[in-house]
Amino acid sequence: MPLTSDSPTSRTQAPRKPFRLFKVLLGVACVCSCFTSYAFINQAAKLQSDAADNSGINPHPIDLKLPQANPLSAVAQLGKSLFFDPIMSGSGQQSCSSCHSPAHGYNPPNALTVQKGGKDLHQAGYRPPLSLAYLYRQPPFSIGPDAADNDVAPDLNAIASSVRGDSRATKQAGVAPAAPAMVAQGGLFWDGRADSLQRQAYLPLLNPVEMANSSIDEVAHKLVNSRYRQSFTLLFGPGIVNDPEQLVSEAMFAIGRFQIEDPSFHPFTSKYDAWLQGQARLTPAELRGLRVFNDPKKGNCAGCHLSQPSRDGLPPLFTDTQYEALGVPRNTTLVLNRDPHYYDLGICGPFRKDLAHQTQYCGMFLTPTLRNVDRRAVFFHNGAYRTLKQVLDFYNLRSVAPEKIYPHDANGKLELYNDIPAAYQGNVDTTDAPFDRHVGDPPPLTAQDIRDIITFLHTLDDGYRPASMRAGLMPAHLNPQR
Ligand code: HEC
Ligand code: HEC
Repeated sequence: MPLTSDSPTSRTQAPRKPFRLFKVLLGVACVCSCFTSYAFINQAAKLQSDAADNSGINPHPIDLKLPQANPLSAVAQLGKSLFFDPIMSGSGQQSCSSCHSPAHGYNPPNALTVQKGGKDLHQAGYRPPLSLAYLYRQPPFSIGPDAADNDVAPDLNAIASSVRGDSRATKQAGVAPAAPAMVAQGGLFWDGRADSLQRQAYLPLLNPVEMANSSIDEVAHKLVNSRYRQSFTLLFGPGIVNDPEQLVSEAMFAIGRFQIEDPSFHPFTSKYDAWLQGQARLTPAELRGLRVFNDPKKGNCAGCHLSQPSRDGLPPLFTDTQYEALGVPRNTTLVLNRDPHYYDLGICGPFRKDLAHQTQYCGMFLTPTLRNVDRRAVFFHNGAYRTLKQVLDFYNLRSVAPEKIYPHDANGKLELYNDIPAAYQGNVDTTDAPFDRHVGDPPPLTAQDIRDIITFLHTLDDGYRPASMRAGLMPAHLNPQR
């Protein structure tokens, strides 16, 4: 149960109101009301009964409200070309798709822990790339239950300070998160430091270990002297070629439009989507996996990786877009981690700067979507794990057998939560299942449960073709690799 006062309003999330900038981006494609309905009250029972029919057919098929597939606008077409064009990089050899590959659910196309970038393509990145898929409903970063509906960025520090000490809601699969004041949610990147797809794209452009341009002017210069010149003047007026800032801003806007408009970023063609709509049968193992995933006393995965459609039929994205400190063990293979004093603390820095003093958020990272998760080769913000089995062992054993998760120091002392400095280890989640157990308790999951959850996670891969569609060709708009 939530720790906070349990009024009906606190358990049903109020409609979120993204800023205007974000609205422009989401525009027609995203129904802004999509955040209105995290109304999962009393759905715990339903979650279980949904999965209870052993025939494998969803006993309560749903008409999912899927994003409309319309032809790309001219701006989005320009964005599509730019997305795949290495012209945007300092090296001249890297495009957005080098790290966000459509054939891999917009995950990296290789098994590197972090991607190489920079002018010479030899610089190691800081974190594993996130998928670019399923961001069409990602709200801007906010703290607290509701974001302001205006163009003025809220003073996050003031909000964070005012709610310091407020308790955090526990997360239980099937129960609406209580949205207590201190919750950090929304935003892009592992630390939420970018609000919109447009603003975001500047970051890789200038990041020295990514696309590594030295300045916006450099990017603008390349674009003005490229085959895109005419598209820019046609779409944004002839003056655009003399305004480097505006030109690059429009280029990023175009890439953002591509990500919003192109169905390959949110195809919803997984077996699980087909099952939700009554068009596929889950195997007994998949069904068992779904049950454990949803079971608040076992995996409780759905407590954060939401698995149910919203009340008005929006398909689940397998994230509540909130931030948690899970205490993932340190990845000593990362270049930056060679410095024992270096810590990646997510919301409170070092890449994100604005909330450096809000130490109650140190160690917190975005809950990523689990759609297409098995197309990723590394998991978590630091790439600590390389298989889903390792990830599941972490969830299962961190609380009950931490000696199997963390290393021991030279004196044989267990280095618990070794990727978070001692001062902030209190931020680590010890209240939500499966982390609510104590050392020596039986683990929440059996070996069979773990195998079943992993089997279920495979049903979140796009590209499944229900029997009803197999006879004919898959419609082009549903094929992410076209
Ligand atoms: C060298 C690899 C690399 C290239 C090239 C690259 N990115 Fe990324 N991208 C990353 C990494 C790494 C992250 C996560 C970084 C973090 O969280 O700090 C990321 C995160 C993102 C996110 C946030 C996703 C989320 O779920 O929050 C978006 C959006 C994004 N990139 C878009 C782009 C666009 C658009 C381009 C081209 C202009 C691009 N990227 C080029 C590596 C890359
Ligand atoms: C309390 C919220 C919460 C619960 C419960 C939870 N997760 Fe997560 N999950 C997260 C967060 C936050 C991250 C990212 C943490 C990080 O990188 O430091 C994450 C990351 C992951 C990843 C890595 C994804 C990637 O792209 O790197 C997988 C896989 C995953 N979770 C699966 C599960 C499964 C399976 C369960 C149930 C056994 C589960 N999670 C329960 C919050 C949660």
